[in-house]
Amino acid sequence: MCGIVGYVGNEACANILLDGLARLEYRGYDSAGTAIMESGKTGILRAEGKLLNLRKRVDEAKPAGTVGIGHTRWATHGRPSEVNAHPHKYGRVTVVHNGIIENHAELRAELESNGHEFASETDTEIVAHLIDDELRGGKESEDAFRAALKRVRGAYALCVLVDGLDDTIYAARHDAPLILGLSDEANYVASDIPAILSRTRDMVFLEEHDMAVVRRDKVVVKDLEGNEVERETKKILWDAMMAEKGGHKHFMLKEIHEQPRAVTDTIGDRLSPKDADAYIDGFEADPGKIRKLVMVACGTSWHSALVGKFLIEQLARIPVEVDLGSEYRYRDPIVGDSDLILAVSQSGETADTLAALREGRRKGARVLSIVNVVGSTIARESDGVLYTHAGPEIGVASTKAFTTQLVAMVLLGIHLGRRTGTLDHEQAHELITDLMRIPEQMVEVLDHSATINVIARRYATARDFLYLGRGINYPIALEGALKLKEISYIHAEGYPAGEMKHGPIALIDEHMPVVVITPRGSGYEKIVSNLSEVRAREGKVIAIASRGDPDIHDVVDDVIQIPDVRPELQPLLTVLPLQILAYRIADIRGTDVDQPRNLAKSVTVE
Ligand code: F6R
Repeated sequence: MCGIVGYVGNEACANILLDGLARLEYRGYDSAGTAIMESGKTGILRAEGKLLNLRKRVDEAKPAGTVGIGHTRWATHGRPSEVNAHPHKYGRVTVVHNGIIENHAELRAELESNGHEFASETDTEIVAHLIDDELRGGKESEDAFRAALKRVRGAYALCVLVDGLDDTIYAARHDAPLILGLSDEANYVASDIPAILSRTRDMVFLEEHDMAVVRRDKVVVKDLEGNEVERETKKILWDAMMAEKGGHKHFMLKEIHEQPRAVTDTIGDRLSPKDADAYIDGFEADPGKIRKLVMVACGTSWHSALVGKFLIEQLARIPVEVDLGSEYRYRDPIVGDSDLILAVSQSGETADTLAALREGRRKGARVLSIVNVVGSTIARESDGVLYTHAGPEIGVASTKAFTTQLVAMVLLGIHLGRRTGTLDHEQAHELITDLMRIPEQMVEVLDHSATINVIARRYATARDFLYLGRGINYPIALEGALKLKEISYIHAEGYPAGEMKHGPIALIDEHMPVVVITPRGSGYEKIVSNLSEVRAREGKVIAIASRGDPDIHDVVDDVIQIPDVRPELQPLLTVLPLQILAYRIADIRGTDVDQPRNLAKSVTVE
């Protein structure tokens, strides 16, 4: 959601804050602001809209201070405007916040009845008032901060500056991510790794209810009672260059092209063709004792879970349930200690997925997760983590995180299938050999995207799109539709192809492009008959088909070819043309591809 960055050092920090915010803009981008300490007082600069607007203000004002905090906002309480943009200041206290203070209304009423006047509609501003009240009551600033934290309920990552203290940032987290960056010259606070990766690789991941006192030469983490707590410093191996566009017009395009490398990193040294096995560090479950696997996820990660169900049921014959994080916890799920929860998340911070994981754990289930961001909350709250190692994903529309999750699902399927005995040595060996060829086959698809550009130009003005797929490619139809709608704002729906005749067929006319995922394999003939139903109603059909399919050209308008691979691995290739199609259409329409309207990369509120 919102992004936070803080700096305490000896350099003028305005540009350090802005550069950090630029890398966090994916979290929210309706307004932004900085507070920089000069002569013992914070000066606040804020602007509605993209970071560029704030940058102009900072360039004009040229603040020289060496301690500051910054924020990029995704509105929850109070519409996007300069007045509601963070930082918020009251008295001596300046605050930036990510999350939602649930009891803000009652605290605000109480403060107002004591004479406080509020400048904004935000829930955040009350934190500044609460701390300032405690300071006026005579508390030291650290105690005042702690006292205020004890009064707020809800989710927060907070950074606070107090006028008069020109070498201290107070930080705290609960149900929203916050990390500290350490170096000899300066110390940092940030919502996410890329914000400070060009400055340091040594990071501390704050835990629930931690607070930190961050100074130039020292960082101390404490609990809410003021006791010091030990938090390990982790070295982040991502290269700062990975968080740059690398010559591509958009992060999304760069990330699409990174997929062959990313899936190679997911496979890493986890596969042994000789043993015909997949090794998953830190995951020690006896598959014979797993009654069912429950996958919980949101959005694109939910689509990878749907593919995962297909894979794990096929390869390991373990029953798999898939649920949306936002639904799971509210339906009193039947889950217990013989079940395994599998949380799937790129960011590892999605509030709905986290809540579902906690609900499963509360009912006795063990928790495994497939996560990209190392040290994220979901990773830390899991008994075992299968990291995807996709590298930082900056584009709001998820691409390489998705395909690396799919690879993780195949690894898990092989691992479990070998242990349940449903996958013999020869079958596993063949699957592993084919999986290891996927990166080069991805390169082949990405290198031959000229046809997709032609199709994109033809349909860029369409109002609606339908995506159809069957079996393991049905979730890919959902994913293709999601990619298109989120970045191009064209209405798009994904359907299982067999379901079309039960309703959506009513939508089809000559204006409706229908993308059909129809590689060779079981269900091929059936899907070809579904295509005839579309064509009979003058719908325009674009097929994602296997190379060398001699018949498909006769029944569709356009064909995008992919290498012929076994069904279990098809989603890794069929999704690539759909990502490119969505990207090209959005680019032609001139939308903001990396930061589509109303979206945020990491959805840390329910
Ligand atoms: C779509 C997209 C979102 C995320 C969803 C879950 O392109 O990025 O739908 O997939 O918000 O996020 P994570 O995977 O971080 O839990």
